[in-house]
Amino acid sequence: MKTTRDRTAWLLGGDAACTDQPLEVERPLRIILLGAPGVGKGTQAELLTSGFACCQLSTGDIFRAASSPDHGGCENWEPSPAMKAALGYMRRGELVPDETVLGLVTERVSCLHCRGGFLLDGFPRTVAQAEALDLILEREKIKLDAVVSYDLPIEEVVARASGRRTCSKCKAVYHLTARRPAKEGICDRCGGVLYQREDDKPETIRVRQETYARSTAPLIDYYTKQGLLISISAEGVPGAIFARTLDALAPRLSLRVEPAAEPKK
Ligand code: AP5
Repeated sequence: MKTTRDRTAWLLGGDAACTDQPLEVERPLRIILLGAPGVGKGTQAELLTSGFACCQLSTGDIFRAASSPDHGGCENWEPSPAMKAALGYMRRGELVPDETVLGLVTERVSCLHCRGGFLLDGFPRTVAQAEALDLILEREKIKLDAVVSYDLPIEEVVARASGRRTCSKCKAVYHLTARRPAKEGICDRCGGVLYQREDDKPETIRVRQETYARSTAPLIDYYTKQGLLISISAEGVPGAIFARTLDALAPRLSLRVEPAAEPKK
């Protein structure tokens, strides 16, 4: 929910369709973003989706859309019982069971054919999910360009997650010190009230970091073995990290893309 592009098909699944289709591009970008919770994947996704035509496919955003009163802007939609159960795991900072996540992704396979390309953010998160994704990609004849893994010392990751504030209306992301809104507690973009995500409370952040180390970090080895992994330092301001990401991706894409403007502080 951090991009402004229509993602109805991804957020709702089933027969839902996006009205605002991206332009067809010569070389769609298809990547996975990896990194600890709060490292800044969503922030980089925002920059990447404005520099490329790709769509941000975040599994966390599907769960947050299900739990928000307007369901990500789609009022006539009721979350399934499996989805309601998934929200409990998310609130505690635990991973939603693989079966539920894979059910959601399987229902949205058409999004992997998005003509602008895609950026998987928060999926896969376990080796079982990565193996299932490999099968889906093989069946759909889709090739990944790269898996970008963002690295940052744990204490800085925790500081980013605990200072995050999100707009209750448009879901724009701010930070108490690193990305402050012009008026405290109010979204610059739409005037909505900023709130702290339930899973950004200190005790839940700790559970999420432990879960990442145990279940998701093994994917670094998994994708290194496939020759897909690119490790990027997530130190510094978002624009600098984005520039590093573009440099690292360039040889794989043989594309030249001008960096997007630095997000407003
Ligand atoms: P998800 O939504 O995927 O959350 P996450 O991986 O925990 O990632 P975050 O959104 O917390 O952080 P981010 O890395 O995107 O950081 P951001 O850019 O916002 O998942 C949530 C939950 O859903 C999971 O815990 C799980 O329960 C469930 N779930 C989802 N997918 C699942 C799956 N596949 N399997 C099982 N369960 C699943 O940045 C963070 C803050 O830092 C912001 O305030 C930002 O402004 C600031 N910031 C960003 N970059 C910088 C910078 N360079 N300098 C200073 N501040 C910065």
